[in-house]
Amino acid sequence: MNYSNDSRDVAAVTSPGSIGSHSYEPGALRSALDIKQGGTFNLGALLCDRHCAQGRGEHMALIWENHTGLRKSFTFDDLRRHSNAWAHKLAELGVKPGDRVCLFVDRVPDLYFAFLGILKLGAVAQPLFSQFMADALEVRLADADTRAVITTGRHLEKVRSVRARLPALAWVILTDVKSGAHPTLVEGEVVMTAEEAPPVEFTPFPANEDTPSLLHYTSGTTGRPKGAQHVHGSVLSQYATTRHVLDLRPDDVYWCTADPGWVTGTSYGIIGPWAVGATQAIFEAGFSAQRWYEFIARHRVTVFYTAPTAIRMLMKAPPPTPDQLVSLRHMCSVGEPLNPAAVLWAERVMGRPFHDTYWQTETGAIMISNVPGLPIKPGSMGKPVPSIAAAILDQQTFQPIAVPGKVGLIAFRPPWPSMFRGYFKAEKTYQSKFVGDYYLTGDRGSVDRDGYYWFVGRDDDVINTAGHLVGPFEVESALLRHPAVAESAAVSKPDPTYGEVVKAFIVLRPEHAGSDELKLDIMNFVRKHLSPLAMPHAIDFVEKLPKTRSGKIVRRMLRAQEWGEPVGDLSSLDD
Ligand code: PRX
Repeated sequence: MNYSNDSRDVAAVTSPGSIGSHSYEPGALRSALDIKQGGTFNLGALLCDRHCAQGRGEHMALIWENHTGLRKSFTFDDLRRHSNAWAHKLAELGVKPGDRVCLFVDRVPDLYFAFLGILKLGAVAQPLFSQFMADALEVRLADADTRAVITTGRHLEKVRSVRARLPALAWVILTDVKSGAHPTLVEGEVVMTAEEAPPVEFTPFPANEDTPSLLHYTSGTTGRPKGAQHVHGSVLSQYATTRHVLDLRPDDVYWCTADPGWVTGTSYGIIGPWAVGATQAIFEAGFSAQRWYEFIARHRVTVFYTAPTAIRMLMKAPPPTPDQLVSLRHMCSVGEPLNPAAVLWAERVMGRPFHDTYWQTETGAIMISNVPGLPIKPGSMGKPVPSIAAAILDQQTFQPIAVPGKVGLIAFRPPWPSMFRGYFKAEKTYQSKFVGDYYLTGDRGSVDRDGYYWFVGRDDDVINTAGHLVGPFEVESALLRHPAVAESAAVSKPDPTYGEVVKAFIVLRPEHAGSDELKLDIMNFVRKHLSPLAMPHAIDFVEKLPKTRSGKIVRRMLRAQEWGEPVGDLSSLDD
């Protein structure tokens, strides 16, 4: 796959719709959201109670369906009541404003109610992808000193297996179970399902724009995953971009396929759309092109936000029937490079192009995008959204590059409302993300003479598989726990569907011989301990790993081999 600037000659696709007059001016955004500058408000209440107070309590907020065909729907008033029940329950358990409450839950309705309830209480939501296994869970709960974990029966054993090593963890809250129909609970475990809870009123915590709201763990090259801290005021950016980039209005039915364990699933799977007051359709089911098209048709989805891996999977499946997608009017993509072929395929087969959007856990909201009305250059991420100052910086001097097409570091000039406020307990790493006036994304790209940005690749060793970031250090740590592994290096390898997958280079302990069975055993070991995403799709057993003279493994060399790229300067390598 070629994500480079070479595709810029592809004819521009003009998206339907107009740019419209959306303001990014903070004063205008505050007044649209009823926030007084310098005053107090609460993000949880803003997303549901506010609509009720404005007479929209009976408007549909959530249409939910799962893989068994079970369907439920909830109005904004339901959101208000069920989130009150959660806030009340957490307060009753002694959870205090500022405490971290982890959501380790599949996409069941209580995930959404609990998220809003945590915010109403003034506590900090820590969403974690429910497919994480015990090792990945433990590291993140330990780092955050998490006070309570909300989970479902499917994931309870994983939580139980790490609990004894987490002294700060006071409560495990089992949800999505009917009372009386759950496993026997041990001390410190309780059951809470909002639809079964008695109605209560709850006075939301008086937060301000700088009050912590969310802690989203993300992976870097070195060390453990870092918790990016977000605040209640981030809604200003999310609201502006949901209106302008996703083109969402209160009468839309919107489907974001991202799981709230990742930032897209919170910024644009909870906060943005409910700040606008739109109806969200949520499908708790695995991928199936046919079922996805049927879901869009059944709920008359108008705006669709997904990721390139899903689009590539749709491209491989039979096309939709002509009547299935008639309701759709706008489609966006995020998380990994959107290859030009996917944009052109969508235009031909789905009737409209995907609009790429670029941002990160740290930026909290979309920074660069193809907004409706801007002609799309397939392969380009589009242009910085209004109010965002983007630049391509020289990799040595960190000065903006004025030459169109020259590759450098993608950077943004802070602040903006949804900017992360730090990495939890990792101030030095946070500081290392800033040089001069700029925040460094860790990505490389270029800007053309028309002001369009082009993604080239990451500037670090993080692996982006199916739009999910995997830290090589975490994979290597898991590999080292396997009895046959002496040393390892995890790097990205190109993949036609997932964009990238994990590949591991392994030096075996002397008493072990490489075999296909051992490869499978090691792959499964990572899947069971860390996560299915982090599982190496390929393993090479090697005699030794390339290292610098100081003994650091040079992943960049192994990665370059996988991608067929020049390996660069190897002068500091061991010989
Ligand atoms: O490398 C970029 C890639 O995903 C990274 C951010 O990942 P995360 O923090 O998990 O947030 C994902 C959802 C916002 C970026 O540093 N990325 C994101 N969007 C794009 C992208 N790469 C290419 N094109 C994009 N549109």
